[in-house]
Amino acid sequence: MPIDIHLNGTPLGHEIRGVDLNNLDEQTFKDIDDAYKTYGVVVIRDQKLTPDQQLNFSRRFGSLDRFVFDRFNMKENPEIFIVSNLLDDGKPVGMEDAGRYWHSDMWYVATPPRGSFLYAVEVPHDGTRPLGDTYFASTRYAYETLSEPLKEQVNQLSAVFSSRKYGEYVGHTPEKAKDNIYLKEVVAAREKIKNNEITHPLVRTHPITGKKSLHVVQGVISQVIGLSAQDSEELIDTLVNHVIRPEVVYRHVWRVGDIVLWDNYSALHRATGDFKLPQRRHMHRTTLSAPKIN
Ligand code: SIN
Repeated sequence: MPIDIHLNGTPLGHEIRGVDLNNLDEQTFKDIDDAYKTYGVVVIRDQKLTPDQQLNFSRRFGSLDRFVFDRFNMKENPEIFIVSNLLDDGKPVGMEDAGRYWHSDMWYVATPPRGSFLYAVEVPHDGTRPLGDTYFASTRYAYETLSEPLKEQVNQLSAVFSSRKYGEYVGHTPEKAKDNIYLKEVVAAREKIKNNEITHPLVRTHPITGKKSLHVVQGVISQVIGLSAQDSEELIDTLVNHVIRPEVVYRHVWRVGDIVLWDNYSALHRATGDFKLPQRRHMHRTTLSAPKIN
């Protein structure tokens, strides 16, 4: 039976209904994989996944990467990165403020992972509605809808993605971390990223679908190579704003048991930070490696 896909009117937002990820036959898995390739974001609700079950499902797509800050990976299952605001004995059990800016995951490594699968274990609530939504925008659609001259221009360009600039942008600085145990851990983890600056082309071609997309991240690009500082900043602002036009953004309102699969090569995402303890948010993320193409 074909899978039940519900589109929501944005270039990438849609939901697959009526599947049990612990009981997937080959054809249903293939249909989910096809939807993942086509849309870049797949929402599947009402799942019950132990860490091992999430790993088994994720590995059907390919090999997995560990999140670079090992401190926030699950000890017994280090391929699960914990996104959480919970504390254990006063210490953060996971990364609380992962991704509160428009980004694709792990842009600071030479070969960023293809995708991430985020599973909701606990979702915060204010009594009337869930909190901690995640927004998604298609960088593929953004590339395809650029004007021809702009497309020509960005096709030729590369840019410097800077961890230092990012740290300042989101306030992960040693000064701010002085009295904050959580930030102290994040800043220490960030120090370990050797390549504080990395150059990526502004357009990337998806290694599996062959489709082109814009490769930009908010608050991170310190310089477009070959442009003046001002032109560089203006171009990046134009491109990021083009990607995140409100009319094309999909906003995911989480429920416990949701798993959302996103493709870093064709989408940006951003988490909201509109909750705090005792409102609890606890998520498990697996990270799909870049495919090895011979
Ligand atoms: C992430 O960027 O991996 C986390 C997204 C979220 O917490 O919604």
